[in-house]
Amino acid sequence: MNGEADRRANALALRLWLNCLATQEILCCYLGIQLGYYEALARGPANAAELAERTQTAARYTREWLEQQAVAGLIAVEDTSQPAHTRRFFLPEPHRHVLLASDGPLSRVAGILPVGAVAHVLPRLIQAYRTGAGLVDADYGPDWTQGHAGSNAAFYSHALPTIVRSALSRDHLLLAGKPTQLAEIGCGAGWATTSLARTFPNLSCIGFDIDPDMIHMAERHSADLGLTGRARFEVRDCYGGLPSQFDIVCIFDVLHELPKPVEMLGVARLACRSGGTVLLIDARTQERFQAPADEIERFQYTTSVLHCLPVGHAGENAQPTGTIMREKTVREMATTAGFGSFERIAIADRLHSCYRLGP
Ligand SMILES: C[S@@+](CC[C@H](N)C(=O)[O-])C[C@H]1O[C@@H](n2cnc3c(N)ncnc32)[C@H](O)[C@@H]1O
Repeated sequence: MNGEADRRANALALRLWLNCLATQEILCCYLGIQLGYYEALARGPANAAELAERTQTAARYTREWLEQQAVAGLIAVEDTSQPAHTRRFFLPEPHRHVLLASDGPLSRVAGILPVGAVAHVLPRLIQAYRTGAGLVDADYGPDWTQGHAGSNAAFYSHALPTIVRSALSRDHLLLAGKPTQLAEIGCGAGWATTSLARTFPNLSCIGFDIDPDMIHMAERHSADLGLTGRARFEVRDCYGGLPSQFDIVCIFDVLHELPKPVEMLGVARLACRSGGTVLLIDARTQERFQAPADEIERFQYTTSVLHCLPVGHAGENAQPTGTIMREKTVREMATTAGFGSFERIAIADRLHSCYRLGP
């Protein structure tokens, strides 16, 4: 290799080594979440034996995990000069916002769970890439679905009401304070539906999802918020249609992983009353393919390769888009599904785009 080729090969080798380190550290965080180490440390400083006692885990393993987390700067040590068995570790206050589960914007717990889910499914994924077969969410297990739902929780709880306000015209029923009915297709754990019901007292919502576990989570969530009368949930395969018509039909972060996205858009169109609106939120992507690309595009592509495209390939005659569903593709799908109007709504979010579709 000449000088320039040598420099580039070395830079790439270093970058991938650092990526291996980052992946291994994230998998250690996954262990910490699953074993309840972070939650237990949040109750106060502990040495390895004390944390093992709090979490019902093996002390020698716990010590290794604590030391790994400390050298990675994820947790802190009271006094590094203490012998290993008495050395005490703690979760610094700012790290609690990141390493403990919550719907706060900095919590990364929900985002780490799907990485563990992918680790479980890698052998099947390799097989799927060879045969072209699809996978289903159940193959990834609850870490994927719960992690995904949690990852969007902060966005739906805090940003969604503003997005919906800017997507609808001022004289829309909802903003005019008139009784409004909303349906959400693929509502997951119900974070979006409940956020909207909480914000708009004139709104009556129903969320549909094919996954009964998701519907149970959504029902619990709605009951916790005292919204049971106005935010209901139902298990339903929405390809079969919705049970009635609505003023607003939402499809939030679902379309790109469906085997038949155009068919689902058609379901949404038919479920709209005259004058009704379909609101779509999906993965933010660049307008066209560019390489190399920024971190957001790289994140969306890894999600597509590891989960969304394989899940979209499930079943007969699948025509998935994968996570990279650019505006031009969404517009074409909306036209094919029979919508007459299509508008992109400008929103200030790094990971999502929003569209309003009408008759
Ligand atoms: C990526 S999750 C999004 C969940 C939620 N909208 C959110 O953003 O957190 C996709 C959801 O669509 C649901 N889903 C997939 N196919 C469906 C179908 N045919 N009918 C209803 N829900 C479906 C899945 O069970 C899953 O909960």
